[in-house]
This record gives sequence, C-alpha cells and structure tokens, in this order.
Amino acid sequence: LVSLRANIPMKESTLPSSRAKLDSIPQQITCVQDYSELAKQYIDHPSYEYISAGSGNEQTLQANHTAFNHIAIYNRLLVDCSQGNTKGQILGTPIAHPILLAPVAFQKLVHPQGELETVRAAEATQTPMIVSTLSSTSLEQIAQQAPAQLWFQLYFQPQRAHTLDLVRRAEAAGYRTLVVTLDASIQASNRRAQKAGFVFPEQVSPQNLVHYPVPGQKQLQPDSSIIFQGMMGDAPNWQDLAWLRQQTQLPILVKGVLHPQDALQLMEMGINGVVVSNHGGRALDGVPAALQALPAIREALGQSATILMDGGIQSGYHVFKALACGADAVLVGRPQLYSLGVAGALGVAHMIRLLTEELQLCMALAGCPTLDHIDQNCIFSSKPGGE
Ligand code: FNR
Repeated sequence: LVSLRANIPMKESTLPSSRAKLDSIPQQITCVQDYSELAKQYIDHPSYEYISAGSGNEQTLQANHTAFNHIAIYNRLLVDCSQGNTKGQILGTPIAHPILLAPVAFQKLVHPQGELETVRAAEATQTPMIVSTLSSTSLEQIAQQAPAQLWFQLYFQPQRAHTLDLVRRAEAAGYRTLVVTLDASIQASNRRAQKAGFVFPEQVSPQNLVHYPVPGQKQLQPDSSIIFQGMMGDAPNWQDLAWLRQQTQLPILVKGVLHPQDALQLMEMGINGVVVSNHGGRALDGVPAALQALPAIREALGQSATILMDGGIQSGYHVFKALACGADAVLVGRPQLYSLGVAGALGVAHMIRLLTEELQLCMALAGCPTLDHIDQNCIFSSKPGGE
C-alpha cells in the first residue's frame, strides 16, 4: 500500500473523473460500503448513476443485496484457528484469497488512468483481475503495467474473426483464463443513467475494439423487430460457444449463469466452470439474486466443479456467505469503481484488504480455519424456502 501511495497521480485531466483523488485513506472509511458513499464526491453525478444503477425496475439489483440478509452465520466455539489462512486455488492456480476483480468496463470514467491503476492494486494484493473486452485501456497496456494475474473477459463480436483476434491477443499478452459473458446480448435500459443525462465522454472508449470496424446499421423489414431480428441477429448461440471452445487451450469460464440446466450443458461441452451472476442486476431485471441461484448450481454440478459468483458482495461476511452457499470464490464489481474513483490504486487495494480482513475475522469466529471448512453447515437461512 505504501508503494502504491507514492505513485497516486494527483494532477488531473479534463475527464469527468478529474476530481483530485485521495493519496491516503481517510479514517472515515471503515468498510467497503463507505466507498460507495464517498465516491459521490469523486465521480460526476451522471457517471455515478450509470455505474450504480441496475436495469429496469432494479428488482434484481435490490435482490442481490437483500439475499445476503436472509442468510445467517453460526459462530462456533473453541476451534483452533491459529494456523488459519484464506488460501485456495481456482482451476489449479493458487490464490491468496477467494476474491477477484470482476470485469468492469470503461474504468476511465472514474479515474484518468482507469484500468492501469486497478491492475497495480491487483498486483499489490495478489488479486486476479478480469479485464473487460470494453476496457478503456487496451488489454496489452494493462498487461504491461503490472505482472498481476490477469484473466480476459470476452464478449463475442459480430464477426468471428474479431472474436478470435481478441482471444489471440489475450493469449499473446499472457492472460490465463477466458471469462465469456453471455447474459448481456442486449443492453438493458439504465433508467437512472438516462435521467441523469449520462453520455460517454469522447476520451472513454473501448480500446480493445478500435481496429474492428463497427458494423453498419442493419436494414430491417418493416414488420421486423428491432430486438429479435435487429439486436439478437448478432447474439452468440450454442454453436458459437462450441466453436470458441475449439479455438483455444485457455480455460474458459462462462459468466452470467443462473439456471442449473445451462450450467450442466456448459460443463458437458467442455467449459471449465461458471460464474453465477446476473451482471450486477444490469441485464434481465427480475431474475433471482445470484446468491439465491448458487446452491442449485452447486448441487447440479457437484463438489469438484469450479463455480464463482458475483452480485452484491460488499463485505467479508458476504464473501463467507457466498462460499457457504457453494462458491469457490467471488467477484467484486461496483466497489472496484467506487474505490478507484476515490483513491486510485490505493483505494482499490484498500477495498480488497477490507474484504479479506473481514473474511478472516468471520472465518475465525465461525470456526473455519481454512476455506475448505466453509460450507452449508456454517449458515442457516432465516426465511423458509431457502431464500
Ligand atoms: C459491469 N459488469 C460487466 N460484466 C462483464 O462481463 N463485462 C463488462 O464489461 C462489465 N461491465 C460493467 C460495468 C459496470 C459499470 C458495472 C457496474 C458492471 C458486471 C460485473 O462484472 C459484475 O457482474 C457485477 O458488477 C457484480 O455485481 P456488483 O459487485 O457490482 O454488485
């Protein structure tokens, strides 16, 4: 953290994220939620609304958070945790703790250096970072910035040649895993962003895609649907995923899985694991909280499958509950942008430290010296029906 602090950029450009960032962590930040509140002073209002909002009526966004309140943790007595740790492994690779940085697009919206700051925090805290296809810094530049453990989040492109090119670039730059996001073929409405007048500033654009020509506007028949024949015309299907599986040796995780049958079908076709996720409540509104969907997917896939989850993780207690419900590790989305907006790499590193220390506290008092001890027996659901 100290070395990060020395390099915090204090001189800002004219981007919307140009409010000076903190170069030390104020005492008032005691938990991850504090970052979301403080971030309102460091991120311009329309961008904040774009980031914090969910789609539609935000039913799923809210469900992601309330689901955690319906799970309670048992404390356990007299367990020797003096040799405890948060180490584990995902897909055979050791991890220092079960927390990853979720793919989050356009990080220059909140900080002039965007992803280049985040990757420094990832390196300092030994946290795998999943770089978005829509990052505002190129995947190559991010890989050059810090020798962190990097994964690449892939969105299928309208042309297979461009999808494949992204995969080859990620392989060449040393990315170790592909996370293919499949729950956002259509961009759902973000009403709060619209009301706040959010538009992307010219300087914030998807840097990985600059060499791929933007497909021209489709000519639709008068009785065609903009959604079905228009937007879904380019959406990937099962054949596309089977094709992708054949193109690379990298492990592939599919992100956006909520239904156990989808999870089973993915594993049968050679996908290496799933991320149980509803895109942080930004895709189809009305779907279950990711935490609610998790136990059935663990049950369907069995103990050895790799299952990550995201949606609503804001504390170490949440991480513990997610692991107890069947996750091997969790991803953190919005808190990344809030802490980045407040204090750059230092903020992101601090946010991860808050999560890991709370997780340790929770494990110690719940009598779980290692991640392997965290399971269904550690929790009970306070609502009938297992919500
Ligand atoms: C996202 N998310 C996302 N997911 C993805 O696969 N590719 C992407 O480019 C993005 N971009 C993105 C931008 C913003 C502003 C947000 C808030 C989210 C979804 C993200 O990876 C993750 O699934 C959720 O953010 C998890 O929920 P929490 O942690 O934000 O509650």
